[in-house]
Amino acid sequence: MEKFCAIYFSGTGNTKFCVTKLVKMLDEAAPIVALEDGVSAVGAYENIVLGYSVQFSNIPKIVREFILRNKAMWSGKNVLCVATMGAFSGDGAGCAARLLKRCGASVSGGLHLKMPDSVCDSKLLKRSNTENIQIIRRAEEKIERAALRIKRGKFPRDGLSFFAHLMGLFGQRLWFCNKAKHACDKWKVDKARCVACGNCVRVCPTHNLTLENGVLSPHGNCTMCYRCISLCPQAAITLLGERVVQQYRAENFTDRRE
Ligand SMILES: Cc1cc2nc3c(=O)[nH]c(=O)nc-3n(C[C@H](O)[C@H](O)[C@H](O)COP(=O)(O)O)c2cc1C
Ligand code: SF4
Ligand code: SF4
Repeated sequence: MEKFCAIYFSGTGNTKFCVTKLVKMLDEAAPIVALEDGVSAVGAYENIVLGYSVQFSNIPKIVREFILRNKAMWSGKNVLCVATMGAFSGDGAGCAARLLKRCGASVSGGLHLKMPDSVCDSKLLKRSNTENIQIIRRAEEKIERAALRIKRGKFPRDGLSFFAHLMGLFGQRLWFCNKAKHACDKWKVDKARCVACGNCVRVCPTHNLTLENGVLSPHGNCTMCYRCISLCPQAAITLLGERVVQQYRAENFTDRRE
């Protein structure tokens, strides 16, 4: 049986859930590591599952920087790119795949998984709890099918074709290119709501936030993961929108589905 190792970046839990489910089916003993927690285990494994969420049909900044910072690590590895998304990405898996190939990796496959939308401060794509649970159930079924095929040596090819590349580029990435570039600067806190609990500072994967004398400040290194926004007890933080509409944590749904 092939041995796997998984690295994932997950702002609000979707990607963690999907990668864990997939990798446990492929190799029960596989290490599953959050990207921000370090990757010392990875060197010993030939087969890597790299999971991340799609942002504006692209890979999050933290994932791009991680791939490039650890360039030497990818040489000779077989990488399966797993991209979770709220609706559509075109080539969500392909975006990391192209980067990884430039770093010497061989891309074994791509898997796209539709999950509930994590953008807490936009009304777009918001679904009821029942709908979210159904979406997760469908993603699980897709993961189960993919794992069975991978075990037989047939990897999924989502997002890797030239057509998918065009879909990602023209369907979304080009239109959002400028918006995405500057969106991270839009992180803001409603000072009247904030009770200086420090939760957001503790959970931020990029250590972008500090709290000094009750004043919360961002430091220009936001990767737009929505973790602080979904976990603020006061719903005081926004990024793309002006008001928190529906805070999202995957485990609120994954822990109570049948
Ligand atoms: C800033 C941002 C941009 C996003 N852009 C897209 C997108 O282009 N297409 C899409 O289908 N989903 C998009 N999403 C939704 C997430 O990709 C999706 O909810 C993902 O499963 C979240 O994974 P996580 O919980 O592991 O962070 C976006 C989410 C964020 C926070
Ligand atoms: S989590 Fe919310 S309430 Fe707590 S410090 Fe951050 S913004 Fe303020
Ligand atoms: S500031 Fe918030 S949205 Fe930005 S990277 Fe940190 S936790 Fe994620």
